[in-house]
Amino acid sequence: MKNAVTVSQDFKKPHLEVSGDSRLSGELRVSGAKNSALVLMTASLLTKSPIRVDNIPQLTDIDGMANILLEMGVKLNRSTNSIEIQADEIHHVELPYDLVHGLRASFFCIGPLLARLGKAKIPLPGGCRIGARPVSEHIRGLKALGAYVTVEHGVVTASIPGPTKKLKGSHLVLDCPSVGATETVLMAAVLAQGRSTIENAAQEPEVQDLANMLNKMGARISGAGGPKITIEGVEELHGCNYKVIPDRIEAGTFLLAAAITRSIVRVSPVIPDHLRAVLQKLRDCGCKIEIENDSIKIIPGEIIGIDITTQPFPGFPTDLQAPFMALLSTAKGTSIITEKIYENRMQHVGEMQRMGASIKVQGNTAVIEGVPKLSAAPVSGGDLRSSAAMVLASLSAKGVSKVEGLHHLDRGYSALEKKLNKAGANIIRNN
Ligand code: UD1
Repeated sequence: MKNAVTVSQDFKKPHLEVSGDSRLSGELRVSGAKNSALVLMTASLLTKSPIRVDNIPQLTDIDGMANILLEMGVKLNRSTNSIEIQADEIHHVELPYDLVHGLRASFFCIGPLLARLGKAKIPLPGGCRIGARPVSEHIRGLKALGAYVTVEHGVVTASIPGPTKKLKGSHLVLDCPSVGATETVLMAAVLAQGRSTIENAAQEPEVQDLANMLNKMGARISGAGGPKITIEGVEELHGCNYKVIPDRIEAGTFLLAAAITRSIVRVSPVIPDHLRAVLQKLRDCGCKIEIENDSIKIIPGEIIGIDITTQPFPGFPTDLQAPFMALLSTAKGTSIITEKIYENRMQHVGEMQRMGASIKVQGNTAVIEGVPKLSAAPVSGGDLRSSAAMVLASLSAKGVSKVEGLHHLDRGYSALEKKLNKAGANIIRNN
């Protein structure tokens, strides 16, 4: 009897039914970058004036960040792909754990709150399934700018000592080029007194996007996108309109969807330069790539095994490691994937094996022997990008797969199944 209850509950879990042997064609449209949009929303806390951000993707992570800003008393107006934020009044500088839990990007609020109001209290975002994900570098950066920071009972409390309530420009060399730490220090330093420099800064396009918006708000940042960023502190920032860059990880996922289904597809809009390492690996494994302005056409040939090591930008992005593994599990020959960013980002392997993939994992390295065909199975993505990998594998497999873990998928992919269906896939969502 107990078993019967469990089965019926399982059946009701939200899932996608993905038909295999799919062929895609036409164009796949890319939304705005999740990781940019999230940090840009928090950057709007730096001014009392209204900020309008366009090309905002429709994602549950964006809903989560909007709720956090609303909780602080910020005015927020959303239309389909835009958001207007006015933080003329901020009632709370303390974020409640239930809003922060599950949205790591919530920690981005610490830099702007501290710079603007002189204090912030944010629960630690904690670890997640892909790795421990500490924020020690963010904290070290804030301390370098003169903040007093304590971590107690799982909460980070930051304040600026002294009467001026101003951070002080400083020179910081990051231990590792952390995206989040670079963004936190950047947002804190724009209103600091004097010049700050960040060396060993993250070079990801999302850091550059943040710097571009901050400069449009009146900040004086140079060098973002390179390893050394210089920030001349200014007295205050003003409002602006800004458009988020296209999501390079969604674009890469679409290119891989085309490759795994051996389909010719155009993916746009993209900034091709943001995908350099990914495009090189697609070429290496047998795809022809044609770049035209803001679109990329992929023409897959016979897919052959290759080796990939994840690296900070401009290297191969960890966020496309699982989706690329799905493709290489269907390649001719052997591939080796080494994960260098996160210590626990191989969880998709077990699920891929259930679909007939031949993969052996040792530590952070996976050895993949390509198989001629994957076979459909009920699978579950344990995190955002492994869920995407499950969808890709299912598109190429024999039979109909049931993909669970949609709460992960919906965090980072806007209407994924609708976009893929428009290009010829057959995916049904059961909520
Ligand atoms: C961001 C992205 C995420 C992506 C990651 C790496 C957002 C919202 N998320 O995450 O999608 O996978 O970049 O490209 O933008 N580290 C430390 N100490 C720190 C901070 C980080 O050791 O204080 C380590 C982490 O454990 C990890 C590596 O640095 O091994 C990269 O992390 P980081 O660049 O900070 O990633 P996030 O900003 O969290």
